[in-house]
Amino acid sequence: MNRILFTVLIYVFSLSFIYAEDDNIKKRQNAMQQVRESVKVLFPISKGKSDYDDFLVISMLEQMLDAAKPYASYFPNEQEVSPNTEAAETIWTDRSGFNNSVLKFVNDIEFALNAEPESLDDFKPMFSKITENCQSCHQVYRTK
Ligand code: HEC
Repeated sequence: MNRILFTVLIYVFSLSFIYAEDDNIKKRQNAMQQVRESVKVLFPISKGKSDYDDFLVISMLEQMLDAAKPYASYFPNEQEVSPNTEAAETIWTDRSGFNNSVLKFVNDIEFALNAEPESLDDFKPMFSKITENCQSCHQVYRTK
């Protein structure tokens, strides 16, 4: 094969590889942004600072669930080398622990969704269970 063509092909291949990695990173960051948006709405409700609106609560929980469910699949088998990610190495050294953390997060959101909390008193303990997951996962699996 023509050497220049070969070099160009290698270059194109490595570029598409890098873009595929960035794609995963983008997906998981978008997912976390979506989670954050839901929390921004739900947090003042849980503190009684905005009126309890069960329809809004359910739709925000659904938005969070949509983001959380595929979350673990956005992490490839090999850790990527990129300055754009805050994912900690522990995700790859303790993959089952990480998958369980995602699963627990999903389960806590689903629990609240299935319970259909109709009042602030019902919702409060469920929301604090959900948000405990943020810290506990970030502490182990996210770098700052
Ligand atoms: C199972 C683990 C896990 C749980 C649970 C979790 N996160 Fe994250 N979060 C991560 C990881 C890992 C990253 C870094 C991902 C990256 O940069 O590639 C992250 C990043 C973020 C970011 C930064 C996104 C960006 O644009 O770079 C925000 C905001 C965030 N999380 C909010 C939350 C909130 C709020 C909760 C709880 C409601 C939560 N997370 C629950 C693992 C988790």
